[in-house]
Amino acid sequence: MSQLSISGYGDDLSVNGVRIGDLTPKQHEDIELSKGGQNYSPLEDVVVSKVKDSSTLLARKPHPEDVNRYIETELLDGLCCYSAVNQGQLNQTIVDAVVRHLQEEKLPTVPRSIRHKYMSAFLLAATSITGMDKVVPKVAGVESWELSFKIGRRWGSKIKKIPEDKCLMIGATGNFHGRSLAAVSMSDDIDSRDGFGPFVPGIELVPYNDIEALQNLFENKGERIACFMVEPIQGEAGVIVPDDDYLPKVSQLCKNHNILLAVDEVQTGFGRTGANFAHQLSDIQPDIMGCGKAAGGGILPVSFVAGRKDVIDVLTPGSEGSTFGGYPLASVVGTYAIKVLVEEHLADNARTQGNYLMSNLDEIMNEFPDKIKETRGKGLLTAFEMHNEPRLDGHAVSLGLLQHGVYAKETHHTTVRLAPALTINKNQIDTLSEAIRTVIKDL
Ligand SMILES: Cc1ncc(COP(=O)(O)O)c(C=O)c1O
Repeated sequence: MSQLSISGYGDDLSVNGVRIGDLTPKQHEDIELSKGGQNYSPLEDVVVSKVKDSSTLLARKPHPEDVNRYIETELLDGLCCYSAVNQGQLNQTIVDAVVRHLQEEKLPTVPRSIRHKYMSAFLLAATSITGMDKVVPKVAGVESWELSFKIGRRWGSKIKKIPEDKCLMIGATGNFHGRSLAAVSMSDDIDSRDGFGPFVPGIELVPYNDIEALQNLFENKGERIACFMVEPIQGEAGVIVPDDDYLPKVSQLCKNHNILLAVDEVQTGFGRTGANFAHQLSDIQPDIMGCGKAAGGGILPVSFVAGRKDVIDVLTPGSEGSTFGGYPLASVVGTYAIKVLVEEHLADNARTQGNYLMSNLDEIMNEFPDKIKETRGKGLLTAFEMHNEPRLDGHAVSLGLLQHGVYAKETHHTTVRLAPALTINKNQIDTLSEAIRTVIKDL
């Protein structure tokens, strides 16, 4: 084995003599190309280095002529890690809780085969904020969806008595639930499926926001259907907001046919849309829901499934588990992520600043109707869609925004999503809006 040396922190962090503070964006890219998987294509020529404040990132490059100097650029974070940092970068309350518990409370790392005291805090907080009877902790967002899928199937088998080889799970077209094999089996996105078959059987899709199609499907195959799995707003699809009466009708149909309603709140939860959870905007009560992303306050991956007692209770010892799901540090972070959601009134701020951002986006659309076709969103989950023309390229807009100090990213060729931290203020929304106006004007 070759010698390996690792030392230092931050810019001084060095591996085998390579000090990361000395690397140019091109050198970072070369390392990623030669030593990493090519499953992402990050924005070119920018490397994020640290946090300036809850909505601002600092990107750094070494100075081309002086190794002791850097060129530093501020970037307003318009994406906040795909809604994982709703509480703002390095939220002080969560950071303090982490440091305090690691350093003073001597937080242990133990698995679920022995109880630890922090699990109780997390379960009390998570059932309270969701209004659900029971919660099962997981780690990544996709795992909360995957567990909802498994619970749906088990409920179908054990409670609804659907023969296992006949059970159907229903999803919506355009969905995004993550990258596990079951999640891509439910996806209709060609890139995420290509070459990964054979897929998980027993899955059917209905068009999103089409209640008649769902009704027909339930009337034809309802006996075999265990669960309908749906995002309250489709984030990855480009912030697709369904009709106001869609979810209430879905909920009623599910009740009529004894089919579970599972909502995926991984992206829409934790205040993002102006309510703690987006389904609450429609005043419905799902049977089960998956949360992730901001459930970990942007500090740790934390996810969970919350649901009704009789649904969660289909799980039995040995049927499900996760080494790091709800381990002490995740339980502390998860509990404090909820505390911040409530005490910093994140949903209220999302509603106020989201309305302001949407009015700014509408103004820009009215100024450039030949470029912007539509604006969409709820709270601070927003997007604008451009007309489908080669010059109106979402990636070019993302690069243009970077030049004007804003980090945002296209979801599709013509759509740019804006989902800043829920701690953002009016001045920062103005900065974001002005950058968009300038970039759109120059297209
Ligand atoms: C609605 C939804 N579900 C699940 C996921 C997967 O979460 P993760 O990437 O943390 O696994 C995402 C990620 O964007 C999402 O938007």
